[in-house]
Amino acid sequence: MKPHIPVLLNEVIEALALKAGGKYVDGTLGAGGHAEAILKVTAPDGKLLGLDGDPAALHIARTTLAPFGERAILVRSNFTQIKKVAVENHFIPADGVLLDLGLSSMQLANLERGFSFLSHSLDMRMDDRTELTASDIVNAWDEADLADLIFEYGEERASRKIARWIVANRPLNNAQELANVIERALGRHGKIHPATKTFQALRIVVNNELENLEMTLPQLADVVGQGGRVAIITFHSLEDRIVKNFFKANEHWRNLTKHPIKPTYQQTRENARARSAKLRVAERVA
Ligand SMILES: C[S@@+](CC[C@H](N)C(=O)[O-])C[C@H]1O[C@@H](n2cnc3c(N)ncnc32)[C@H](O)[C@@H]1O
Repeated sequence: MKPHIPVLLNEVIEALALKAGGKYVDGTLGAGGHAEAILKVTAPDGKLLGLDGDPAALHIARTTLAPFGERAILVRSNFTQIKKVAVENHFIPADGVLLDLGLSSMQLANLERGFSFLSHSLDMRMDDRTELTASDIVNAWDEADLADLIFEYGEERASRKIARWIVANRPLNNAQELANVIERALGRHGKIHPATKTFQALRIVVNNELENLEMTLPQLADVVGQGGRVAIITFHSLEDRIVKNFFKANEHWRNLTKHPIKPTYQQTRENARARSAKLRVAERVA
C-alpha cells in the first residue's frame, strides 16, 4: 500500500503557528502524518489529541505516534464530538485545530472498503458503526432520489442518465460494477473516470460529510482559545463553500485566507490526492 503523504504539510504547520508546549486537536487523524509533524514541531512538551472514526486509521496512527508516548492521545470518535472529547481530555483551551477532510490514501487503496473504482465491495463507510452503505443507496433508492443525490452531492449534470442506468442494471454488487455501468452510460472522455462525481456523491451521503462539517464548525470557538488557529483542508467545492461562508462573517474568527492555499504543481505531482485540496485558516479573535 502506498504511504500516506500529508497534504499541504508545511502550509498546515505554518497556518497553525505551532508553539512548544501547545495543545492541538487533529479531528481527522488518518495515518497521523500531520499529527506527527505537529508533535515534532511542538517538542518537547506539546500535546496532540487525535480523533478518527475509522479504527483502521487509529491502528496505523498509534504506531506512527508511539514514539511520542503520552504527548499523543488518540480517540475513536466522529469529529462532530470534538468539544466533548476535548473537554474530557483537558484540551480546552486548545491552541489549534486541524481538519483534513475526506478520505485517506489507505481508505482509498483498500479494495474491501468500496471507495475506489476497483473495489470488491460497495460499502464506502469511513466508520463502520454507521448503518447506511453505498450499496443500500445504489440498489434500493428509487431512480428520482438517486438522480437528485448524484446531482446535488456530485454536481453531476448527467445525473438522470446515470440513475437510469444504475436502476436498469441492478443489482450492482461492487464498486467495479458501478463504475463500469457509469462508464457504459457516459462513455470515456479524457483522464478523469466518468464515475468520479457519482462516487463523490455516494461517499458524502454515506458518511454524512456536509452535515458533520456544519455541526462541527460552530463548536470550534469553544475548543480553541483566544489567538488560537483553525486550519481546514477541503477536497471539493461543497465542503469548501461551507468553510468559506462560516469564517467569512463570524464574530469569533478572523479569516486569514481570503483566497484558499492550494498545493503547488510539484506537490500535486508527488501526491495525486492533493490535486483538489484547499486550505483555509482562521484565528480566534473573540
Ligand atoms: C484525509 S485523512 C487524514 C490524513 C491525516 N491528516 C494524515 O496526515 O495522515 C481523513 C481522515 O479523517 C477521517 N474522518 C473523516 N470524516 C471524519 C469524521 N466526521 N469524524 C472523524 N474522522 C473522520 C477519515 O476516516 C480519515 O482517516
